[in-house]
Amino acid sequence: MVARESCVPDGPDSPNAPVPAGARRVADLAAAAANCQACELWRDATQTVFGDGPDRSRVILVGEQPGDDEDRVGEPFVGPAGRVLDQALEAAGIDRRQTYVTNAVKHFRWEARGKRRIHKRPGVGHIRACRPWLDAEIAVLGPEVVVCMGATAAQALLGREFRVTRDHGQFVEAEGGYLVTATVHPSSILRASDADARQAQMDVLVNDLAAVAAYLAR
Ligand code: URA
Repeated sequence: MVARESCVPDGPDSPNAPVPAGARRVADLAAAAANCQACELWRDATQTVFGDGPDRSRVILVGEQPGDDEDRVGEPFVGPAGRVLDQALEAAGIDRRQTYVTNAVKHFRWEARGKRRIHKRPGVGHIRACRPWLDAEIAVLGPEVVVCMGATAAQALLGREFRVTRDHGQFVEAEGGYLVTATVHPSSILRASDADARQAQMDVLVNDLAAVAAYLAR
């Protein structure tokens, strides 16, 4: 079973995520999330970047948080990591247009370096504050498989003991009746030190996604 963390906001004064009770459409969740101030990240972000994809998706792909491009455009995985994800999905035989893509944290956390906005990893409080949105997306979509890409998403859904490098590709049954699996984050391919390391990471991502495709085709 998936470890469930309580969803506490990041600080005594911050309100809980304003998830509309009984929402039946992702569009209703996204509209409410546009005003989310459950942690402080909304202050420095351009906008909430909610999940994107059809309401009837059988697969949910969960990343870490929007990056610089996603923050400006307002959609998940539209920048360099998104292009890697597109390649990997295609190689694995999964049509991105039939998946729902989202993030564990829905605001861009960054720090200024000169004129650049540099990605800063979200903290446990940010993941927890945002968790009600992920739960609501899963409840509305009713997926068969949820794929955590990278440690942040895996930590949110599979608990802190889960190690992506060791445990990627495993399928874990969640209480809601769907399976949760984890793989490397597409950004790990962009960060790889050389071509061999890049290929090795890409192979992991494609193989893990191919296992999801095989499960869906069963
Ligand atoms: N990295 C993520 O985890 N999510 C995005 O949407 C973009 C980059």
